[in-house]
Amino acid sequence: MGEGISDYTRFAVDLRRQMWMAGVEEELRRLIWQIAVTGKYISAKIHESNRKLAGFKNVYGEEQLSLDRSSDEIMKNQLQFSGFVREYASEEQDAVVMLGKGREKYFVTADPLDGSSLVDTNLAIGTIIGIHKESIFSRGRDSMVAALYITYGPLITMVYSAGKGAHEFVLNREGEYVLSQEHIMLEERGSIYSPGGLRKDCIEKHVRFLEYLEAEGYKLRYSGGFVPDINQVLIKRGGIFTYPALKKSPRGKLRLLFELQPMAFIIEQAGGIATDGKEEILSVRVEDLEQRCPIYIGSRFEVEKAMEFLAAGS
Ligand code: F6P
Repeated sequence: MGEGISDYTRFAVDLRRQMWMAGVEEELRRLIWQIAVTGKYISAKIHESNRKLAGFKNVYGEEQLSLDRSSDEIMKNQLQFSGFVREYASEEQDAVVMLGKGREKYFVTADPLDGSSLVDTNLAIGTIIGIHKESIFSRGRDSMVAALYITYGPLITMVYSAGKGAHEFVLNREGEYVLSQEHIMLEERGSIYSPGGLRKDCIEKHVRFLEYLEAEGYKLRYSGGFVPDINQVLIKRGGIFTYPALKKSPRGKLRLLFELQPMAFIIEQAGGIATDGKEEILSVRVEDLEQRCPIYIGSRFEVEKAMEFLAAGS
């Protein structure tokens, strides 16, 4: 049979159908679908900025917002239209934005375009979303009901979890998100490591841990984009991503609410773990929007090994 839409309609499971079959409740399904669709609009914006790279300055003659800010505008507007979101907290906003009338079910956190500084290098970048059923100023474990991320790479892919496993979808030529992998599970132990932070700025115990991984033959896989780096650990079924405490910034670099909580939620659903070196990321209480945390996330073996190294002699 030749290629065509009929192949998709016959064999593909699209996002809405998969969520329905997985028993995700209706409003949450509609919200996740709306966010996935928003990824298409953000991707269009990225393409527009590529026209700038290609020498088309100010294509539409309008004053162009930075890509992060336009992605944030797009996300905020789409979430508002959905009618399911009470409050929106974004990496691009100084304060929580009230989107609804106060009766809507969900509180959403967004890093609308993580790694946007990589756009000119044509490396993959992404969108990270957390969905909470109550105030975000809580522990992720108590407030989160779902998380998702979208990668804008050679393909656009989306991974979501609504607490019933982690599933990957690929955006096809017809603009549908079709299921590519359901119930992704990490191996107990992987073979890649993705270490953020300069070694000279890291504490000694963390350096010892990295040396251990290297002696064990782990392969270095760090792109500088949190979404593709985590996606690699997930899709390759294991390994570790870390952005540790640094001597000058003991809270590390990555943001708890916008980056770490959603990825911790997804990786846990895939059988992995995420800690700040001591405590699980989803047990850390969120006190403010800007809160940062060291992170060790991935397969159980490597993350527990990191915790052993960090605890040694203390
Ligand atoms: O927080 C933004 C971010 O670009 C992440 O996507 C990424 O993991 C990290 O910072 C990279 O930091 P660095 O440039 O220090 O390696």
